Amino acid sequence: MMESAEADGAIAPGQTVLEPTSGNTGIALAMICRRKGYPFTAVMPDNVTEERTQLLRMFGAEIVYSEGAKGSNGAVELALEICEGDASYYMPYQYGNDANPGAHYHGTAVEILDELDEVAAFVAGLGTGGTLMGVGRRLKEADPETKIVAAEPMQGELVQGLRSLEDGFIPPIIDLSVLDRKIMVSNRDAIVWTQKLLPEERYFQPSSGTRKTTAGSTSPRGSTRPRSRSSRGSRPPSGGERAGRPGDPIRASRCSVYHAARVGDRARGPA
Ligand SMILES: Cc1ncc(COP(=O)(O)O)c(C=O)c1O
Repeated sequence: MMESAEADGAIAPGQTVLEPTSGNTGIALAMICRRKGYPFTAVMPDNVTEERTQLLRMFGAEIVYSEGAKGSNGAVELALEICEGDASYYMPYQYGNDANPGAHYHGTAVEILDELDEVAAFVAGLGTGGTLMGVGRRLKEADPETKIVAAEPMQGELVQGLRSLEDGFIPPIIDLSVLDRKIMVSNRDAIVWTQKLLPEERYFQPSSGTRKTTAGSTSPRGSTRPRSRSSRGSRPPSGGERAGRPGDPIRASRCSVYHAARVGDRARGPA
């Protein structure tokens, strides 16, 4: 997202990058902004884990907290409010920025195709939807039979980084036709599998990642037990310590927020 903003001239030196995030993208942006010399502000729910806050601060990020009970939708609302009318900010807006699925289309998916002979199904947690859209499109180009499966929390259960589309906000980058199926995973099941995976598979991942594994254990052929890591082709999204087609950026005169041109009003954020 940062590289395409620079290539498109959507961000200017001296602008502060501001992004609503429940942690993971925020940590990546904090690291990249530090290297590139942009100040970075993360807007995130006040109930995120202490580790995320610490990591962000290590990279020199400012943090603005939104109301925890509103989850990442609350962070999106607050970030849009802060950014509105203030030219000193640039917001990549991962929920509506085609460079997000683009990174998975050109990166993650290519790595998967390089490593696996065949992919029966790809299961991923749904946050912005960038992973599912970018990887899903590329895998289906390689094999139209590959099933793309979203793992979502149950409606109303707050999980950092993930969302249930039933909660009402469908990120603008999501094209539902790419998804073959979605599997709702309860917090209880995610915790049960987190506890089982370490002793049984020596596989430690955060509960958001376990959600994907739990969903994967029943997909696509209904097996109730996860297969081995190699046959499942599953990888932890990160260490257990923490949980294509480019659109045109609209260069607003004040606060530039990336909008995928094709999504119109939905890019404004959660309903
Ligand atoms: C384990 C895990 N899965 C999925 C996601 C969501 O990814 P995306 O925003 O690409 O939908 C996250 C986001 O932080 C995550 O931590």
